[in-house]
Amino acid sequence: MKVSGTIRVPGDKSISHRVLMLSALADGTSRVRGLLASADVYSTASVLRSLGVSLPRISSAEMVVTGVGRHGLHASAAGLDCGNSGTTARLMAGVLAASPFKSRVEGDASLSRRPMRRVAKPLEAMGARIAFDRDDGLPMTIHGGSLKGLSWVAESASAQVKSAILLAGFLADVPVEVHEGEATRDHTERMLRARGVDVRTEGSTVSLLPAAGLAAVDTDVPGDPSSAAFFAALAGLAQGGSLTIHGVCTNPTRVGAFRVLARMGVRVSYADAVEAAGEPVASLVVAPDRLVATTIAPDEIPSLIDELPVLACVAARAAGETRVTGAMELRVKESDRVAAIVSNLRAVGAEAEELPDGFVVRGSDRPYRGRVKTYGDHRIAMAFGVLGALDGNFIEVDDRACAGVSYPSFWSDLARARS
Ligand code: S3P
Repeated sequence: MKVSGTIRVPGDKSISHRVLMLSALADGTSRVRGLLASADVYSTASVLRSLGVSLPRISSAEMVVTGVGRHGLHASAAGLDCGNSGTTARLMAGVLAASPFKSRVEGDASLSRRPMRRVAKPLEAMGARIAFDRDDGLPMTIHGGSLKGLSWVAESASAQVKSAILLAGFLADVPVEVHEGEATRDHTERMLRARGVDVRTEGSTVSLLPAAGLAAVDTDVPGDPSSAAFFAALAGLAQGGSLTIHGVCTNPTRVGAFRVLARMGVRVSYADAVEAAGEPVASLVVAPDRLVATTIAPDEIPSLIDELPVLACVAARAAGETRVTGAMELRVKESDRVAAIVSNLRAVGAEAEELPDGFVVRGSDRPYRGRVKTYGDHRIAMAFGVLGALDGNFIEVDDRACAGVSYPSFWSDLARARS
């Protein structure tokens, strides 16, 4: 299998959620182009609609969003269904904690198993009351209202929790600060700043000061580096050729996977660097070379957390032993991804082992064949889709449709990138 030509991946998922939320809370009208139209983003849109925001149909073409202002949300009589989307549930928890009404936050079976106390704890420390039906996870009922300022030491590396605190602070008009152990994606900070809010990052501390309101801003959503990683991996695993991935967000908090691929021998270069929507954006040119194993250290994990499934699949073809540690967060994603990665690599004939906080993969040239269980996890489906696209491999993915959570056109883009 060789790769050739160019591809443009859909808009960044993290930025798409945030641009809808911030445009909805802004004073005035925002134009959004290149939004990711996927199941997770539909979840954010439907939650905002239930709270009284009138949003047009979600589309990657230009959308015009009329903000309701920071005090414009209304209570929803019905539960707020976040579907499969952790970002919707956790960021909206921050918004709802500062809104003077009661909300019930719900999700699908996978999301309902994921930890929510991590976001409830700081919001409760600000003065919100949050009740859980069970010990942790959704459904949760948020009694929002006026909040006090907060200085919070992050207990896990989570951009979602940090963002919830920043959104709650902004809406409640109180100062907040978050001390991060490891830097996590900073899209919320960049987007609040672009909308006139005083958000500062000094060392590992992010602080937000009270602001008059949120200005409406037009946004071109850049391509999602987490989606681009599947094609960078495909190009790195190919027998030859080269693939150009246009318009990818190259925010330093997001590009760890490209650094790791380069370390494993993949030829990765950047071209046409520009800035859009306060984010660095570039084309990625990727070509294969001899692949070698690597060690992924704990301090790299936040910058590639969502890319570990596909990096594990690349490791299955790289000479030597690839070791990942410090990735306990992987166990509480859309599935337990440590277990899903290792059991599926073994199911197709690769050598892999679980670690409590990561995994080990030993690469080989043997054909990989078998059936993969996705557990409804989009990134597991796509990672094994890439491995299955290589010559000699035959991998059946039990639920290809779950890719629609973040990348609805993945399978047709995959077929196009191969030549
Ligand atoms: C996200 C943050 C990360 C990431 C998720 C999206 C975000 O989760 O895994 O896919 O948009 O803020 P955590 O905040 O749980 O690390």
